[in-house]
Amino acid sequence: MNRSDSSHPHQLHHPRASASKVFRLLIAASLTGGVVACDDLPGKPPPNPAPVISVATTAGFEGMWAERCSGCHGADGQLGAGLPMRNAEYLNAVPDDDMFSMIRNGVPSSRMPGFGGDAIGGVSDEIIRDFIKGMHLTWGEGEASDDSRGFPWRSTGTGGDVASGATVFAAKCAACHPGEQVAPTQAGTMPDQLIAGSVTDPFYLRLISDQHLRSNIVFGRKDLGMPGAAGPFRGPDGGEVTTPLTATDVADLVAFLASKRNTWPSGPEVEDGEP
Ligand code: HEC
Ligand code: HEC
Repeated sequence: MNRSDSSHPHQLHHPRASASKVFRLLIAASLTGGVVACDDLPGKPPPNPAPVISVATTAGFEGMWAERCSGCHGADGQLGAGLPMRNAEYLNAVPDDDMFSMIRNGVPSSRMPGFGGDAIGGVSDEIIRDFIKGMHLTWGEGEASDDSRGFPWRSTGTGGDVASGATVFAAKCAACHPGEQVAPTQAGTMPDQLIAGSVTDPFYLRLISDQHLRSNIVFGRKDLGMPGAAGPFRGPDGGEVTTPLTATDVADLVAFLASKRNTWPSGPEVEDGEP
């Protein structure tokens, strides 16, 4: 090899240097600008993901409500099968920690699922806490009614009396919740929308907890015409009964309804455990 030909190695080297430069540029492009180029591919998500809105805000809360709760508790927070959450009085009565544990873990032996912990697609504890803030912000600051007479969400006393509960039920509730008895009807009137389903049906009762009964009786369901503890109720003759429920009445009613719940085996549901 002739060492005097000094320019030769340089000339040989030049194309290699240039190739490696192009290679490095390609890597750089694929790390940065390359992403932009791929955005034109069909089916690719947009380059800037939609901003994640905190569920502690009304907009964020409403999004998660629509996705996770609306099917059972109503699109608008009411008129669903589950208790309406669009109720400032109710929201302010449920302690945050209880609300958190129900949303995180569900309500045992009921159809209320848990959304946190080990649930598939589980929501973090932090998001659940924020979600509760969002729910209060959105529905908890309206004018609170006094349907509950200020009775606590959860029973604080011991169990109620079944026989007394039966008496109150006959005097104030049975006209709207006929069960075995036939509801009084006024000849010639349209079907009364307030005549509701049986709440003494043993199989209905095994689907829901005593707390669900209490929450309905204390807070009512304004969205469907169910009075809270403040009434007014409906007597056996169909007339209005204005005497409100006492705290003892509420406990007795829950005890009476719960006493109708059966535990007979009914197919695979038995595996869920005792109601
Ligand atoms: C003016 C009629 C009316 C009166 C009086 C009334 N209810 Fe209701 N109740 C309703 C309506 C309407 C609903 C909602 C529709 C439904 O659940 O069938 C309801 C719902 C309920 C529910 C929830 C059912 C569920 O799981 O969704 C319970 C429990 C209940 N009532 C118990 C009672 C008790 C106990 C009393 C007496 C203190 C009472 N109701 C008085 C009309 C009434
Ligand atoms: C698959 C239907 C379903 C879904 C989805 C659902 N719930 Fe429920 N929820 C229920 C049922 C049924 C109950 C009544 C449980 C019982 O018997 O105590 C309930 C009870 C509750 C209660 C307690 C009511 C009370 O005072 O007794 C709260 C609070 C609640 N749900 C909030 C939520 C929230 C918030 C979401 C969405 C994150 C949600 N639920 C999603 C069915 C559902």
